[in-house]
Amino acid sequence: MTTRILTGITTTGTPHLGNYAGAIRPAILASQQPGADSFYFLADYHALIKCDDPQRIQRSRLEIAATWLAGGLDPDKVTFYRQSDIPEIPELTWLLTCVAAKGLLNRAHAYKASVDKNVEAGEDPDAGVTMGLFSYPVLMAADILMFNAHKVPVGRDQIQHVEMARDIGQRFNHLFGQGKDFFALPEAVIEESVATLPGLDGRKMSKSYDNTIPLFTSAKDMKDAISRIVTDSKAPGEAKDPDNSHLFTLFQAFSTQAQCAEFRAELVQGLGWGEAKQRLFQLLDGQLAEKREHYHQLISRPSDLEDILLAGATKARKIATPFLEQLREAVGLRSFRTAVQATSEVKKKAAKSARFVSFRDEDGSFRFRLLAADGEQLLLSRSFADGKSAGAVSKQLQQGGEADVRVEGLGFALWLDGEQVAEGPQFDNAEAREAAIQSLREALAPQAD
Ligand code: TRP
Repeated sequence: MTTRILTGITTTGTPHLGNYAGAIRPAILASQQPGADSFYFLADYHALIKCDDPQRIQRSRLEIAATWLAGGLDPDKVTFYRQSDIPEIPELTWLLTCVAAKGLLNRAHAYKASVDKNVEAGEDPDAGVTMGLFSYPVLMAADILMFNAHKVPVGRDQIQHVEMARDIGQRFNHLFGQGKDFFALPEAVIEESVATLPGLDGRKMSKSYDNTIPLFTSAKDMKDAISRIVTDSKAPGEAKDPDNSHLFTLFQAFSTQAQCAEFRAELVQGLGWGEAKQRLFQLLDGQLAEKREHYHQLISRPSDLEDILLAGATKARKIATPFLEQLREAVGLRSFRTAVQATSEVKKKAAKSARFVSFRDEDGSFRFRLLAADGEQLLLSRSFADGKSAGAVSKQLQQGGEADVRVEGLGFALWLDGEQVAEGPQFDNAEAREAAIQSLREALAPQAD
């Protein structure tokens, strides 16, 4: 069985090492495993919650798309798309919003943190809180549930959101599934060793702390950032404590076990911090230089990136569109046509036994009639030069093609794809004509078996 892996990355910033080690790299590796079916996307609707600077949103989407591809993501193997190219996502968000308990969302960490901050500052608890922030977990649940993801690789701060997606999905299944589960229940996956990388100052590497090491900017920028990593004040020659050094933690996130053991030994033996920073730079540059070059090539051809992402959206929507159709159906947003059919067994039978009969006219042309169950003629087609075209049109009608009935005096004509293809008989009065049109519609409505 394949495991569907899905994750999104919010497009508000420029990817840094922490994003790479914590999310992007493990996701790309996972996508290369046999049996993996991966969905990776730019969470650009989520970005709008945090950022109202259009330039920054646009720039970040481009940079993040290029980062994933340069990092080795193969868009032919995975489904790689922008959230905002999938209109089914906001639609599913609404269906889920209607089953998500407000109390559940009140408990979301991100929202609670804002409220706590406001309360502390003596403000209204909801000051500056948008509905976007409040509903953030529902949008995320839609991302995940839309594609029935089993595994969702995320940072620790997102575990709660994946759990909420489970909750909301379960509730929807329970309310509308009628014994069948629409949604698979997702699980968060955390890369234990490198779940969150420390930044320059030892706190979690994050744009909001301004302590990041850029991923694909120049080697010089990377070197500059590394030189700003905070260490203790032990002099060269003094033994360092690797387990209390975030420089070591950073190194470990990119090294093999052997490299790591060697670096640890050197630190214990008194390697100077300057040297240690140089080692870290070499390690990172060795792993990232080639990818960095690829990244810059990609960024310089944005229309190629656009094509890749649109192709990804098409692939994603092949799943999303029919699935959403089922969900709409489940909650009661159904076509009236199917609803009438389902409740009217008699009409259904009548419709079922209406039949197309083809024949050759005196002049050698081909035609067909549509006869109701009782043999009454509902339609007579126009003449076709050959049997094949006549057959194609009757087939299209049988399969429920969008037929357009136009009243003409006391008769009517049937149009298909902008062309008149058949006409009904003439009637004595308008009532008789309307009744015949009604039977015709029933005969042509797609059959729900
Ligand atoms: N909220 C996630 C973050 O900030 C990004 C995200 C959006 C996501 N939708 C998702 C992650 C769905 C996993 C699955 O990191």
